[in-house]
Formats: sequence, C-alpha cells, structure tokens
Amino acid sequence: MTDPTPDLWRRVDAYLTETLVGHDPVLDGAVADQNAAGLPPIEVAPVNGKLLNLLTRISGARRVLEIGTLGAYSTIWMARGLPDDGFIVTIEAEPRIADIARANLERAGVAGKVEVKLGRAAEVLPTLDGSEPFDLVFIDADKESNTIYLDWAARLGRPGTVVVVDNTVRGGEVANPATENPQVIGVQRGLEMLGRDPRFDATALQTLDLKGYDGVAIAIVL
Ligand code: DHB
Ligand code: MG
Repeated sequence: MTDPTPDLWRRVDAYLTETLVGHDPVLDGAVADQNAAGLPPIEVAPVNGKLLNLLTRISGARRVLEIGTLGAYSTIWMARGLPDDGFIVTIEAEPRIADIARANLERAGVAGKVEVKLGRAAEVLPTLDGSEPFDLVFIDADKESNTIYLDWAARLGRPGTVVVVDNTVRGGEVANPATENPQVIGVQRGLEMLGRDPRFDATALQTLDLKGYDGVAIAIVL
C-alpha cells in the first residue's frame, strides 16, 4: 500500500467530494465571498459540511446552536438539513465577519432560519433562551474555550443532543502531551472533558481532506 501523502489525501478528498457531495453555486459562492473578503479559508471541507447536514437530518434536529460562524458555510449545510420550522442560532465575534455571514445566508435562502448573534461566545451563551433545548451543537470557534463551550452545550442541550467539535486533531499535535500551542491545549482539554465528564459520551475521527490533517469529535449528551 502506498503511504498516504497529503497529495493522496487531496485526490481522495476530491474523489469523495465529486462522488458523494457534488458542487453547489450557493456554497461555492459563500466560500468565494469569504475568501474575497480576506477571511481565513478555514471553513469545513465539503465532505464535513455534508457530515453536518447528515447529522442534522439523522438526529431530526430542529434547534441548532453553532459556536463560530465565519462565512456561514457550515451554517448553510446545517440549515439545509432542518425541517421547515427548524432554527439555528450561530455566534460570531467579529462584526465584519457576521455581515459576510448574513449576506451568504441571505443568498442561500436560509436567512429566515438563522439568527447570527454578534459577540464573544462565552458572553453570548449565558444570554441565550434556554427554555427549549438545542438538539445539535456545533463547536468551531477559538479552541482555547472548548471546555466552556462544551459545558454550555450540555447545559443548553437535553439527553440525546448531538455535539460536534471541529479541529480535534490539529495535524496530529493533539497527541503531543508536551505541546505548548494554546489552541491544541484547548482541544486536548475539550477531548479530555468529553472522555471524563458524565454528561457526555463521545468519539473522534481523524480527517484527511483538502484542509489537511485534522479531526472531528462527535458526542451525545447523556
Ligand atoms: C483552523 C481551522 C479551523 O477549522 C478552525 O475552526 C480554526 C482554525 C486552522 O487551520 O487554523
Ligand atoms: Mg473549524
């Protein structure tokens, strides 16, 4: 067997994307506008956007919470998996980025299902209406705060709520106990919490795609 190389990952990712995901002018446009505005190209890969869409549908989620909007690429994928009365609250810290996200949601025809809340997630989360639980929570913001976000996911969820955490492998650095990278340390703390905290049951998958070598954790609130 050939050693997997970044080039091989990219070719396989392109094959899987062509075969299973396809192309979509709205999603491609959201990425193009985000790139043109100079935002970092760190939206999830198409195969992972499709994973979020499928998890939304498989779980029958009606209320979704997203922490970290960026250009709303992942938001659009999840919005498309919602029933007619479904709703997403997505939190973005940067006003300029929130404006780009709103324009992309508008063009995707899902703006009526999505509220973009502006602010630092750690400050916005305590203000959310917790009277009805979220069915799915996607955590994809500053990694240093992952344990704070997981705590809110459990508090704002219910037994059965699906929790997805992006960027859980970070090029393999997650397995380095001596890492000094604060983002990786945040990822490690989050994964350790998922493993230890009795409110969760979880696993994580390594992902090799056009975004490089990373991973995604998937948990259920118990
Ligand atoms: C990076 C990637 C992400 O998906 C993210 O949410 C944050 C940072 C990165 O590659 O730096
Ligand atoms: Mg991410």
